[in-house]
Amino acid sequence: KNIAIVMGGYSSEVNISLKSGNVVYKHLDREKYMPFRVHILKEKWVALDDANNEYPIDKNDFSFLMDVKLIKFDVVFNAIHGNPGENGVLLAYFDLLGIRYTSAPFYQMALTFNKRDTLSVLKQYGIQTAKSVFLNKGDVINIDEIIDKVGLPCFVKPNNAGSSYGISKVYEKTAMLAALEKAYKEDAEILIESFLDGTEVSVGVIQYQNALKVLPITEIVSENDFFDYEAKYEGKSQEITPARISSKVQERVEEVAKKVYKVLNMKGFSRSEYILVNDEPFFLEMNTVPGMTEESILPQQAAAAGISLKELFDNAIQMALN
Ligand code: DAL
Ligand code: MG
Repeated sequence: KNIAIVMGGYSSEVNISLKSGNVVYKHLDREKYMPFRVHILKEKWVALDDANNEYPIDKNDFSFLMDVKLIKFDVVFNAIHGNPGENGVLLAYFDLLGIRYTSAPFYQMALTFNKRDTLSVLKQYGIQTAKSVFLNKGDVINIDEIIDKVGLPCFVKPNNAGSSYGISKVYEKTAMLAALEKAYKEDAEILIESFLDGTEVSVGVIQYQNALKVLPITEIVSENDFFDYEAKYEGKSQEITPARISSKVQERVEEVAKKVYKVLNMKGFSRSEYILVNDEPFFLEMNTVPGMTEESILPQQAAAAGISLKELFDNAIQMALN
């Protein structure tokens, strides 16, 4: 089967996605699959062969001509973080073309990429979250009112983004405007959330061999002020798998993470983040295209579960075909 590993994308996470995609490419089972890296970039959509020759993609049917041979894809492996892979846009196009992919359907992807809307759905199902305020670019803001609602410190986040791009932890009223400006560079919507004082955990939930599987939970100990870009990708954090939590708390986190997966109608990979406050998980966000780079968390969790990357990616393709 021909597999298109789509990678790149149009957001700040482009280079992380290229790394994730290359890890998938490296570990796909060559006895079963013929993988092609497909770069989906603002400037071009191209398929790459093993020798890195580039072939333009025909957007009419997502095929390409390799010399005189027409290559069509059986499955798309979605390795695009952010727009247009993780927010569903590209997946709606594959739906139109009738091409299967390793993600939830486009609507679930669009919903879960929107932090505010995800919180609002989950709250209805009794999932705990931080207090928050939502802003649109151009809104008239009253910083005192915002701080009254969420308190200090608080987090200012682009509502639709990943890898901590554009996020600030704000300690003082005077730092708020600069934080908003930074977040607006990533997105036209902003979510401001109260700071939750507790242990941060990251929970991989995947469909594995037709059942829902919670991978060993990762505890995040950031050397920086929070789990920012540097902590995530430049070694400024300790990621401890399995997390140092009691089996009772572990069961509770697993229960909540599974519920979140089901309520949001996920498919395939997911990694959701929580802060444990008095042993109760407070949901932060859902990642439907979790990083697969050497530094990323989900591959570490799979390894801790005794699942090789080859098995993990093979499983994802099989789930997409089911
Ligand atoms: N957004 C990054 C890639 C992650 O969730 O791992
Ligand atoms: Mg994220």
